[in-house]
Amino acid sequence: MPSGCTYDERWHELANSGQNIHGEADFISGFKPASVLDAGCGTGRVAIELVQRGIECVGIDLDHQMLATASRKAPTINWVEADLKEFNLGRTFDVAVLAGNVMIFVLPGSEGLVIDRVNNHLHAGGLFVAGFSLDTGGIALGEYDALMNQMGLSPAGRWSTWQRDPFTGGPYAVSAHRKT
Ligand SMILES: C[S@@+](CC[C@H](N)C(=O)[O-])C[C@H]1O[C@@H](n2cnc3c(N)ncnc32)[C@H](O)[C@@H]1O
Repeated sequence: MPSGCTYDERWHELANSGQNIHGEADFISGFKPASVLDAGCGTGRVAIELVQRGIECVGIDLDHQMLATASRKAPTINWVEADLKEFNLGRTFDVAVLAGNVMIFVLPGSEGLVIDRVNNHLHAGGLFVAGFSLDTGGIALGEYDALMNQMGLSPAGRWSTWQRDPFTGGPYAVSAHRKT
């Protein structure tokens, strides 16, 4: 991954060109959660925006530099440095979001462990939301859905964008699953 500052520069450029860089926050806010786990939070783009909208968030990432940038931008948010495949915060959330391709950045083969750990941090009825590219050789949707099913997470919607465009088999999917 690039350093936290370099990663943020890309988002600043997009924002300066007039693009909405908060599609994920818009999407998540629509469910009106009280609490959100931003899993693989990077420099905090999503969590910081959600907190500004009045939603309590915890951000978790294993990249020290990315978290240092997040912490500089929003020192009052709880940023946790840990690996998604083995963390335990001892609490649960209404929604967990893995934005920005986190599912294809985790170590190949560890996806089941990551899903299990994140699922463990959801209330019953909570939502597990992930958006990731399907054309990069990372986990395929069929495999993802099978893992979600094994963990007791039921399909709650699939879109091709964070703006909720319908999913018609394209190269990117936003998937929501509910913990039963
Ligand atoms: C492309 S960035 C996305 C950052 C942020 N979610 C966003 O959308 O702006 C992917 C992030 O996933 C994190 N990541 C990858 N594998 C991880 C793991 N096993 N545990 C925690 N974080 C992980 C990386 O460190 C990186 O910050």
